[in-house]
Amino acid sequence: MPGTSEQITRLREEGMAAIAAARSESDLLDAKGRFFGKKGAVSGILKGVAALPVEERKAVGELANRTRAELESAFDARLAGIRDQERHRSEGRERIDVTLPGRGPMPGHRHPVSQTMSEIISVFRRLGFSVQGGPDVEKDYYNFEALNFPPEHPARDMQDTFYVESAAGDLVLRTHTSPVQIRTMERMKPPVRIIAPGTVYRSDSDITHSPMFHQVEGLAVDRDITMADLKGLLTEFCRMTFGPTKPVRFRPSYFPFTEPSAEMDIQCVICGGSGCRVCKESGWLEILGAGMVDPTVFGFVGYDPEEYSGFAFGMGIERIAMLRHGISDIRLLFENDIRFLSQF
Ligand code: DAH
Repeated sequence: MPGTSEQITRLREEGMAAIAAARSESDLLDAKGRFFGKKGAVSGILKGVAALPVEERKAVGELANRTRAELESAFDARLAGIRDQERHRSEGRERIDVTLPGRGPMPGHRHPVSQTMSEIISVFRRLGFSVQGGPDVEKDYYNFEALNFPPEHPARDMQDTFYVESAAGDLVLRTHTSPVQIRTMERMKPPVRIIAPGTVYRSDSDITHSPMFHQVEGLAVDRDITMADLKGLLTEFCRMTFGPTKPVRFRPSYFPFTEPSAEMDIQCVICGGSGCRVCKESGWLEILGAGMVDPTVFGFVGYDPEEYSGFAFGMGIERIAMLRHGISDIRLLFENDIRFLSQF
């Protein structure tokens, strides 16, 4: 049946033309389907070969198989061409400008409270103090009683305590770092020169109070320590922290564990002393509490108040960070907004 050979030759031409005309993978697959895929025309002819007269079978079968193979290799070549073009086109679209500055990793940095804490610690280290720690969940005895806050004493109302449920009912979240004074004196004999940085907790929250905040406590006990030592040390600390010309002052105050007690102010960092909203028109900002260790406290740790004297102080780290950076709301320090934190 010479018609079949001609038919194959025609299909070959049409198939080759369709492959050459294909502009996309889907055009190509379409051509394959029509001409030489499983259900394509050439395959159809191959399926019919068996029905042909014997003398034609061989020639037609060979021709159809050859044609199919030729179409397949034309298909493969065209597919590679189309994929190549596609790649060039998308590379053109996504061209990389190698002269642009790279995107570096985004290194983090320490939180402003941690930075301030480290700086305070390094100032006191240079002044000869070592660092001590104590637990955040503290015994009532250390947080209050041994610091001369007797049970039911109204001085306990100075601190809005979080009480911790416990069998003995004697646990609190420490309201200050002062309990580390007691723990340290129980462990060491004088001379003592320590600071105790750490987290403290009070049930108190507004623009200047956070229920969780940080303090640095200080304690020096030795023979012949006087209030002059306290004033000299803390004045030096302020010079190193706020600059050598920042005026400071001491005011009388009250704490159960010191006698006499004082508070230390620095000249307002916002208005420079003329009076503003931040310093409540006083020109001064309070930065710490301090005093001479009360002999009653020495009684709790077995130090002889006739032989030794000492001073103590405690400051809020957030407060100092806020003064140094001009931050007006303490809550900003704990919201972890990267736009705020990345400024420090
Ligand atoms: N513990 C006090 C408070 O949190 C601060 C303080 C005052 C600590 C006087 C001291 C001190 O060591 O001597 O309010």
